[in-house]
Amino acid sequence: MRVAENFPRLRPDIESIPDYKAGARPKPVAGITTFKVSSNESHHDPLPSVIDAITNALRDINRYPDPSSAELVSAISEHFSVPRENISLGTGSVALCGQIIQSTAGPGDEVMYAWRSFEAYPIWTQIAGATSVQVPLLPDESHDLEAMKAAITDRTRVIFICSPNNPTGQISSAQEIENFIQSVSPEITVVLDEAYVEYLPGDMRPDSMRLYREHPNVVVLRTFSKAYGLAGLRVGYAIAQERITAALRKTALPFGVSNLAQVATAAALKAETELMERVEFVQRERTRVLDVLRAQGWKPEESYANFIWLRLNEQTEKVYQALEEAGLSVRPFPNEGLRITIAEPEANDRVIDVLSGLV
Ligand SMILES: Cc1ncc(COP(=O)(O)O)c(C=O)c1O
Repeated sequence: MRVAENFPRLRPDIESIPDYKAGARPKPVAGITTFKVSSNESHHDPLPSVIDAITNALRDINRYPDPSSAELVSAISEHFSVPRENISLGTGSVALCGQIIQSTAGPGDEVMYAWRSFEAYPIWTQIAGATSVQVPLLPDESHDLEAMKAAITDRTRVIFICSPNNPTGQISSAQEIENFIQSVSPEITVVLDEAYVEYLPGDMRPDSMRLYREHPNVVVLRTFSKAYGLAGLRVGYAIAQERITAALRKTALPFGVSNLAQVATAAALKAETELMERVEFVQRERTRVLDVLRAQGWKPEESYANFIWLRLNEQTEKVYQALEEAGLSVRPFPNEGLRITIAEPEANDRVIDVLSGLV
């Protein structure tokens, strides 16, 4: 039987949803070690205490995980002094971005975010059938919060503030974020996407836990994938008051956070001191790389995350090729720039070497 090309019938808008472009693995280059610096992962090996927790939990993999992740929720609750009722988990904070949009916006509604920013926002918005409102970044690559305020309409349902911003590494100051939240109608959900907040010096971080307590429309979104070094386990968490938390728990994939992920992330929270030493290492390397690149004549903006951003416009492809040939897979944004994860010194030195020949 001949079957029509458009069978089985899908939602007409599904095919136009862009694919999520994950950071590529490096292509092998003969005779040299290659480095994956394309996904803002931690280059440090998992901590022994985390490996032990996973090893002990392996015996239970014939069972479904605890669907409420009770022990992990308690660990997060104690760690941040927030009530358990205010915590929801997702299979990575990328899933929670989708759950927030599904919970707030549908056809005819608007989801606002800066652009360029985290590429999952437009994808989830389109999946929900809602409309993206992308507000261009300022020339210094940070959010234009004034323009975002001006772009609010009676259809705006949710606004993402990504600080530090992926892929530009820039922040909005704590005061700017607070002023913005105060100016937004409490009808609209405001998401503080803080995937990289641990890489920001403590005195520059917004007091997100106070902001969510004071504002029932604020969601603080965090992840175990970056500073906690557990990208492969897929756990993110949202902290928000009960109304939003209840919606995020309803829209979560049942049993999405595996038992191995639950025990490993709880162990990582206990090892925070060790992990924060690793964060400081990345911060020092970031400063070193940026200083050398500036001395070479490049003009990167400051970065407050575990990556740097080079706006290269039409030079992007050429620089990308040179880095790839040298065994470095970075994240290209065609005709815009490159995002390069700060990793082990050997990888960072390689980046510096390649770029020195291209400025
Ligand atoms: C800004 C931002 N938010 C959220 C995420 C999602 O991270 P994960 O799903 O690994 O928690 C990322 C990942 O790159 C990100 O850059």
